[in-house]
Amino acid sequence: MDKLNGSARLMIVSDLDHTMVDHHDEENLSLLRFGALWESIYCQDSLLVFSTGRSPTLYKELRKEKPMLTPDITIMSVGTEITYGEAMVPDDGWEEYLNNKWDRNIVVQETASFSELKLQPETEQRPHKVSFFVDKKSAQEVIKSLAEKLEKRGLDVKIIYSGGQDLDILPQGAGKGQALAYLLKKLSSCGKPPNNTLVCGDSGNDAELFSIPDVHGVMVNNAQEELLQWYTENAKDNPKIIHASERCAAGIIQAIGHFKLGPNVSPRDVDFPYVKEASFKPTDAVVKFYVLYEKWRRAEVPKSDSVIQYFKNITHANGVIIHPAGLECSLHASIDAFGSCYGDKQGKKYRAWVDRLFITQTGSDSWMVRFDLWESEGDVRVCSLSSLALSLKTESPEGLVVTHIHKTWLNGYSTGVEQASKL
Ligand code: GLC
Ligand code: MG
Repeated sequence: MDKLNGSARLMIVSDLDHTMVDHHDEENLSLLRFGALWESIYCQDSLLVFSTGRSPTLYKELRKEKPMLTPDITIMSVGTEITYGEAMVPDDGWEEYLNNKWDRNIVVQETASFSELKLQPETEQRPHKVSFFVDKKSAQEVIKSLAEKLEKRGLDVKIIYSGGQDLDILPQGAGKGQALAYLLKKLSSCGKPPNNTLVCGDSGNDAELFSIPDVHGVMVNNAQEELLQWYTENAKDNPKIIHASERCAAGIIQAIGHFKLGPNVSPRDVDFPYVKEASFKPTDAVVKFYVLYEKWRRAEVPKSDSVIQYFKNITHANGVIIHPAGLECSLHASIDAFGSCYGDKQGKKYRAWVDRLFITQTGSDSWMVRFDLWESEGDVRVCSLSSLALSLKTESPEGLVVTHIHKTWLNGYSTGVEQASKL
């Protein structure tokens, strides 16, 4: 949150499974499209919040499996754990607050008498969350009688049914909606309420997000029956909530456009040759550079010298690149070598994407851009910590030139994707 001097232009609060992440899309295309849009247009002045039912353990697993961005804030375990930044610093105040009228031992005792409830794996049992599986036909009855029993024992709990299978028991003050309300209050109290907030979800535990005042909401096309039913019963007259016609992250991109929250054309959807933009956007130029880099290797752009010429036009003839293994080369010589890599990753499930992009103005017409460049091939992936120096040059296609690139393998070494990090 500290990265912003003022209010966020846009705060996106998104569920992960079947909302940001489409488990039916092996190519991860909508997730990558969203990621490129966010890094090119929003990452400098906006906040990305992931709000998931997953525990920290399963959340970290998902991050390793999918080409996800690093969010500014992570809300896990159905709104019972809030952490900040890459380092995932916990909000202890929030967890303290959740102790009110909560005793997980009593929850465990009372639930033991329900044979319909099957305990979820140990990783998903958290200090303020007890989770089970239960089938659709018994769910409503179990919820009702369990709520009565726990109330008699002096607890004030919230029972949430999601995905037609998961039953979570949380303190009454917890949940994705309450966690968002807490964050909004925190941002307001330091004078930085977001200008716009967009919540995104697909299942029962997301319903609360849509009831927070003043937020825009998108239920992705593939939303679960229980969320659509909640919407029909509680929110169908609210014009700030839509049911997207697109699945998962593509539905989020659609909602940004629908509510006019800002640009919603992903650099991944822009065809080459790129049209020169009126204004100069260094973040956009960097994201487009690596989208084109990926498309060249996947043979998804025509094999034309104009692509290599584009790379040369936006890099300085005397520029240098330091490859992550420690090799120093002229930028233009590296681009020539890259030219012969056309299609080397075709049909290999290869992807390249940029995360944690951060830009600093270093002079009146110069910038330093820091980012992680990820490259994956099937299940293996590598990351190079990258810095790129840029200067203004009005006649170049993006209005700027790259004068220097310096890369280092994350953790100091790389095993995995062969021939990674060419540029
Ligand atoms: C995630 C969690 C699970 C929870 C479910 C619904 O799948 O891993 O514990 O029950 O979300 O909230
Ligand atoms: Mg979900």
